Amino acid sequence: MVKFTKPKFYITTPIYYVNDVPHIGHAYTTIAADILARWKRSSGYDVFFLTGTDEHGLKIQRAAERACEKPKQFVDALVKKWRAIFDKLNISYDDWVRTTDPKHEKTVQEIIKKINSNGDIYRGKYKGEYCVGCEKYLVEDEIVGGLCKIHKKPVEHLEEETYFFKMSKYAGKLAELYKKNPQLIQPKGKLEEIRHRILTEGLKDLSITRTMFDWGVPFPLDKKYVVYVWIDALTNYISALGWPQGEKFKKFWPADVHLMAKDILWFHTVLWHSMLLSAGIELPKVVFAHGWWTVEGEKMSKSLGNVVDPVKMIDSYGADSFRYYIFREIPFGEDGDFSERALITRINTDLANSLGNLVSRTLTLIEKFSKGKIPKPGKQNVEELDLNIAFDDKFRHASAHLEKFEFHHALDKIWEFIAAANKYVNDEKPWELAKTKGEHLPTVLYNCAEALRIISALICPFMPETAEKIAEQLGIKEVPKLTGLKWGGLKPGIKVKKGKILFEKIEETEMAKHEKKQDFPQLHIRVGKILEVEDFKEAKKPMYKVKADFGPAGVKWTFAGLKPYFSKAQLKGKLILGLLNLAPKKIADFESQFLTLAAVHSAKEKEHVELLTVKKSKAGDLVYVEGEKPEIKSIKQITMEDFIKVGIKPDNKGRVLHFGKPLKTDKEEIKVGRHKEAIIR
Ligand code: MSP
Repeated sequence: MVKFTKPKFYITTPIYYVNDVPHIGHAYTTIAADILARWKRSSGYDVFFLTGTDEHGLKIQRAAERACEKPKQFVDALVKKWRAIFDKLNISYDDWVRTTDPKHEKTVQEIIKKINSNGDIYRGKYKGEYCVGCEKYLVEDEIVGGLCKIHKKPVEHLEEETYFFKMSKYAGKLAELYKKNPQLIQPKGKLEEIRHRILTEGLKDLSITRTMFDWGVPFPLDKKYVVYVWIDALTNYISALGWPQGEKFKKFWPADVHLMAKDILWFHTVLWHSMLLSAGIELPKVVFAHGWWTVEGEKMSKSLGNVVDPVKMIDSYGADSFRYYIFREIPFGEDGDFSERALITRINTDLANSLGNLVSRTLTLIEKFSKGKIPKPGKQNVEELDLNIAFDDKFRHASAHLEKFEFHHALDKIWEFIAAANKYVNDEKPWELAKTKGEHLPTVLYNCAEALRIISALICPFMPETAEKIAEQLGIKEVPKLTGLKWGGLKPGIKVKKGKILFEKIEETEMAKHEKKQDFPQLHIRVGKILEVEDFKEAKKPMYKVKADFGPAGVKWTFAGLKPYFSKAQLKGKLILGLLNLAPKKIADFESQFLTLAAVHSAKEKEHVELLTVKKSKAGDLVYVEGEKPEIKSIKQITMEDFIKVGIKPDNKGRVLHFGKPLKTDKEEIKVGRHKEAIIR
């Protein structure tokens, strides 16, 4: 007897830093993996879908210390929160891996021993600038003015005796491998970036142990050390399968897809692939890096206070609408800007008008003209055959798009089928057939219901709750599987149950409420004229004391680190912008009364500082965000953290923007010359 075995599909998400605030970015990767996992399960594959949490490292150890908790107790509580959110998003993961699980820790030690037995680990000394946020040493162009470019926090200079992984040994092999197997890294542009970087920069050996903290996996070759978090984290993909001997490992490895955003692609290709080559383990089939979500053009971050909370979205709009929007709106490999208005528009048009309406009118027609039962169809005319063909065509295309991670195209195709079904109802006009007792009526009603059954199967991976509601209203026990999905599978005679409307439309006025801006601290900024500049001798760094006239706000003093960039003569008489409501700072008993605003650019060689200034305005003029002129009396004092939260950044035209709106005086917009990658401080 021939034994049929199902094909397998192993898909993973990154394991998320357990102390991060889960936001739309994390939800995005995880829902993408969920859609593919559900699509494959429904298509007859044996699927293993892995997600989880990254729970070691200095960042987590420090966060636990701040919370006065033991690290394990701290992470246990956080994992619960993550799982609850993924449950709300209807994520159908098969396993949740935790790096603090003893089974995982043992696997990390085993892979290190294996790599060592291959002669790829040696002892040496490492010096560098470390960012706790990134959990890595930074290279020069990742540091701006002593701050990590991503986390905007000071880097720490570290020097340590360490063990190295001979990653350099794999540069040639990887470059060759990527050339011969371009499908290994997707999308294609990313593959080229990685190859280019390897070919031009080569690969450096990587420090893989740490001593400055102990919240990690003990390094098996020297117990003074713990394992570098990225070696620990990447190993999750095989520890969860029980490498080397586990049944799951034998069945599911190599992974079919590792999904992530582009921020961590380097680790998942160069580092992970070198580790696997060294340990003699087969490489994953595809590593796919999708785009980056921003909010009004800004990176999402706790300090900017602009994190899109998926729970809020689900509570306001439902999990399925949210899942639909994030995959319909933006091509998967590209960056996207989150907009609640666009989400609402999608709900009103694609979901309420197209899909919701088709379901509700079909069920109403069957209740009215077929006693609430699926009728027996008669002869199929050309219109019915057309609908049948449309289904075959759209289904085939949607599958092909999903194979290429083109979620938005797959949804386009499914919605084209929904449009074809709506057109069929409009053209066949069953309400008129009912009036004339047309004998084609049962056939039309049957085909409308059959279209809904098919639609429930097609949308199920994207919108599982809606698919189930449609199946329930049709009176069928479960959403049909994609495997073997054929036109005509619906049994006549089944009793339908028209349910609640699937998607409520959201009115314009409601929409405005949802767009309510977050409350940001207000800024008191004025044009000031520099009157005096002196050396600030008592300061440890090269600084000036600066006196400026702010018109109605008076004459004020401050200190500023401008000395390396400007001579006193260059500054005297210059018009600057001063932030006047910042809490004063003291150096050697001298108190600052304002902050001189400047655009700071990082260049490889050196930092470039440009003072914000004006051309048509005069000392004392108020500077404000367009449309939000503040009432001076009500402005409160703010901290530096508040100022960062306000988020002022130049755009690519040199305008200085706060959440999309320009900073200006009554006479002009504020401009900077070199704007690329600058930060305002
Ligand atoms: N712990 C590491 C990953 C180790 S995997 C072996 C890590 N964790 S993370 O919490 O920072 O997650 C990063 C991932 O979250 C990104 O690669 C992406 O999958 C998702 N996203 C986080 N923010 C995102 C956006 N703003 N936009 C899109 N996805 C992003 O790195």
